Amino acid sequence: MTYSRIVGTGSYLPERIVTNRELQSRIDTSDEWIVSRTGIEARHVAADDELTSDLALKAAQRAMVSAGVGPDDIDLIIVATTTPDMVFPSTACLLQAKLGIKRGAAFDVQAVCTGFIYALATADKFVASGAHRCALVVGAEVFSRLLDWNDRRTCVLFGDGAGAVVLKPADTPGIYSSHLHADGHYSHILRVAGGIAEGKLRGNPFLEMDGQAVFKFAVRVLDECAREALERNGFTGSELDWFVPHQANLRIINATADKIGVPRERVVTTVARHGNTSAASVPLALDSAVRDGRIQPGHLVLLEGVGGGMTWGAVLLRW
Ligand code: ACO
Repeated sequence: MTYSRIVGTGSYLPERIVTNRELQSRIDTSDEWIVSRTGIEARHVAADDELTSDLALKAAQRAMVSAGVGPDDIDLIIVATTTPDMVFPSTACLLQAKLGIKRGAAFDVQAVCTGFIYALATADKFVASGAHRCALVVGAEVFSRLLDWNDRRTCVLFGDGAGAVVLKPADTPGIYSSHLHADGHYSHILRVAGGIAEGKLRGNPFLEMDGQAVFKFAVRVLDECAREALERNGFTGSELDWFVPHQANLRIINATADKIGVPRERVVTTVARHGNTSAASVPLALDSAVRDGRIQPGHLVLLEGVGGGMTWGAVLLRW
């Protein structure tokens, strides 16, 4: 039996940092309100000329250096994004060209904040089956461009960034299992409904959200999905060395950790500094914990995401 294993991680955050205090000077909000409701203190925002593929490129290059692989090694690129550079070609194809790669497959997946989990689960199947030898999996977003910066209910929550991993075949896990879910009946609680038709914008181009409905949904499905992944492989939450959840809100993260029984000191959180970076949040958090030495070889790690769709999913792996 062949498995896949993450052999390198990388991430990138745009230079500009927008603090709660800056937002407080522009709209009717406060640092105290944002921190107490979400745990977010600051977020990074891309420059006007920075595209998703630019962020993805920097994260990918760092992941490739940490994995010790070059452009000639990569034969599969999957980019998870809600904010592609253009309608087509895919951001994965644009990234492929920026990396100077001319072979293999490249495509995007769209599962909003669960995008990286969907992309990693997909790459795992391609690599573990033997169809591909070396996959680059990226979550990258310029989510700031989907926000109405005058809407205090949503603009304080999100940020921009990118995270990436390199995946190779392995004789032992690696990835034990992945668990993907969706329920389109909840599409109305979190969406950007607008689109382009006949050369014009049709519908609302900004993010709309029923915050309380999303909160309740997220806490329920993150608990269910974590249990599904742990039970499938004969583990309990207390055996996890690290829980790396989607970074939307500290209260959602803490409630989930408590429900699945993983102590808070074994939960990786970056939401205070990054805000919610959608598909980039899990690989950004993963890379921070790998680079500062918290995640070590042999550790049992659970990655989890939830987002628009609604979509949700988990990947359980041995580092
Ligand atoms: N600053 C100050 N006041 C605000 C702000 C703000 N930024 N935003 C909303 N308020 C006000 C509201 O207008 C409301 O005032 P009112 O009572 O006078 O009408 C009051 O605060 C309470 O609003 P609620 O929406 O009830 O606040 P709640 O306690 O539910 O917190 C929040 C809102 C933080 C959005 C919460 O519902 C939440 O975290 N939901 C999850 C949403 C999420 O994480 N989304 C990310 C995308 S989905 C994902 O990634 C999983």
